[in-house]
Amino acid sequence: MHIAEANSAMHTPARVAVVGAGNVGSTFAYTLLLSGLASEIVLIDANHARAEGEAMDISHALPFTPSARVWAGDYADCAEAAITVITAGAAQKPGETRLDLAKKNADIFSQIVPAASAGNGLLLVATNPVDVLTYAALQQSGLAPHRVLGSGTILDTARFRYLLSRHFDVDAHSIHAYIIGEHGDSEVPVWSLANIAGLRLNDFCVAHGVSLDQEHKAEIFAATRDAAYHIIERKGSTYYAVAAGLVQIVKAVLRDESTVLSVSSLMNGIYGIHDVCLSLPTVVNRNGAHRVLELQLTDEEQAQLRHSAATLKSHIAALGLAANH
Ligand SMILES: NC(=O)c1ccc[n+]([C@@H]2O[C@H](COP(=O)([O-])OP(=O)(O)OC[C@H]3O[C@@H](n4cnc5c(N)ncnc54)[C@H](O)[C@@H]3O)[C@@H](O)[C@H]2O)c1
Repeated sequence: MHIAEANSAMHTPARVAVVGAGNVGSTFAYTLLLSGLASEIVLIDANHARAEGEAMDISHALPFTPSARVWAGDYADCAEAAITVITAGAAQKPGETRLDLAKKNADIFSQIVPAASAGNGLLLVATNPVDVLTYAALQQSGLAPHRVLGSGTILDTARFRYLLSRHFDVDAHSIHAYIIGEHGDSEVPVWSLANIAGLRLNDFCVAHGVSLDQEHKAEIFAATRDAAYHIIERKGSTYYAVAAGLVQIVKAVLRDESTVLSVSSLMNGIYGIHDVCLSLPTVVNRNGAHRVLELQLTDEEQAQLRHSAATLKSHIAALGLAANH
């Protein structure tokens, strides 16, 4: 790169647009500000006063945080964004499944996505049901598949690692384990490849006198899969952990990190799965979902993943979202 180009790259502000300034969007915007990754953060919401209030409140932290410009804007501001994060929509109500929300939020997306995807940036979907809406955003935007990501099972993977870290008394950063497939009821824990510093969990158990029987596994997976229901019962919605996860995805994009994250993206024949968005460990960089990794899953895990894909496909079909990309 020439010096002039390098200088101009250094001075290009890293703008992140956030559509939906509710609990998830505003918590994400605040967490992003604290991270210092973005120099411009724009909040957009159908309720403009809410976006203004959040932008004011977040801006007042600026004397204590890395520098940035934070404002309540409109869709024209997305054109200059490196990445637009969509968190707008109705939140999951107690007793409501993520897929109950599909129709409501797909309608909202048909208003938002065309307006939010006019620039050269990426789209990152967090609104639930995230896999179905990532697929909807892909269709409604007409963008190349790698430019449209969903937060997918990044949160479920984090919950899984946290619970395993408690079980094994090892820091969560040192647990390598993934939840794949749907962000929701059909998601799949990849027990066969889970490891601590390269030690498979069974080997860790033998070496360190820890037990991990079928009952423990069932409990850890149920607590992972059903975490949102338990939190929603207690406090109405979940937003801190997803906000932190969204910042990790945005970091991988803005810093061109090629980090492996379990984001949702369009499947293109991996394990025979086509034309549906779901999560597998994926190399994420400035291109977005750069490369999906094919894991050596057991036959049972592959069958569970195909079942998850079929479940999502049936929801996509029920919404009448036809393949046209
Ligand atoms: N992907 C994940 O892991 C994950 C985790 C938690 C929550 N979520 C999802 O995130 C979404 C947001 O949750 P929340 O708690 O922030 O909800 P919220 O109700 O607090 O915020 C939603 C915001 O969207 C706005 N909105 C609604 N329709 C709009 C439109 N047409 N245009 C622009 N803005 C619009 C609302 O005004 C509101 O401010 C939900 O779908 C929730 O299920 C996803």
